Amino acid sequence: MRETISIKSPADIELMREACQVTAIILDEVGDIIRPGMSTEEINTFVHRRTLEMGAIPSPLNYRGFPKSVCVSPNDVICHGIPSPFVLLQRGDIVNVDVTCYKNGFHGDSSRMYFVGGLAACSPEAQNLVETAKKALFAGISAVKPGNRVGDIGAAIQDFIDSTGKRFGIVREYTGHGLGREFHEAPQVVHTARAGSGAPIKPGMTFTIEPMINAGSAKTSLSTIDGWTVRTADGSLSAQWEHTVLVTQDGCELMTASPAGLF
Ligand code: MF3
Ligand code: CO
Ligand code: CO
Repeated sequence: MRETISIKSPADIELMREACQVTAIILDEVGDIIRPGMSTEEINTFVHRRTLEMGAIPSPLNYRGFPKSVCVSPNDVICHGIPSPFVLLQRGDIVNVDVTCYKNGFHGDSSRMYFVGGLAACSPEAQNLVETAKKALFAGISAVKPGNRVGDIGAAIQDFIDSTGKRFGIVREYTGHGLGREFHEAPQVVHTARAGSGAPIKPGMTFTIEPMINAGSAKTSLSTIDGWTVRTADGSLSAQWEHTVLVTQDGCELMTASPAGLF
């Protein structure tokens, strides 16, 4: 039996857009404060405080036992990095910050990559990976429209990655997801798929697209120590960008678009 995909009413969408915009504002602000020497715990403290200040709740906190308010995933960490006072960001690191806010009874989920110490501090390989992961997200977004199916999103991402001619790995174990009143709901949005597969895309659906792209193999390794941190199996760098999208009559709206036009 397949869980049905919820369709949001115009009133739902108005409420949810606000949760999504709190998320976007926080991610804009993270870009202003992130710097070499900062611990990932400091990012958590900042995100937690700003979320509450904007009348929202950090969705990750205590979600299935997750102990912090944001996921911070540097370098070879693919996703679900747990903020820690002992993990210090270094000049030249790339890092994903994944924020989800709950407000008005709805969640808004988005993540971005940051270059610690600025773009020029990072290797050309890291820069290329981060850029490729962003283009992969937008390739997926281009496939979101009524008449297409959810699998067309993953097919578009895979086609784009193939077109680079490089052997990037697209992570399979973690996926995009429907969200709204729940943090994770149907549909599952896989990032590699066969065109024409999956559920039909319909106006009023809201889901994330969040491809994780590895510089090396697609294989993942889950920490046996904390049960959350997911790393590349081969130690290669990984990058991810995520938006929450709303399906419209002829395409989609980026609900977590940066109000400053940054993403
Ligand atoms: N924000 C993540 C996602 O994109 C989920 C994090 S779950 C947590 O789906 F428990 F680690 F916070
Ligand atoms: Co997320
Ligand atoms: Co998500």
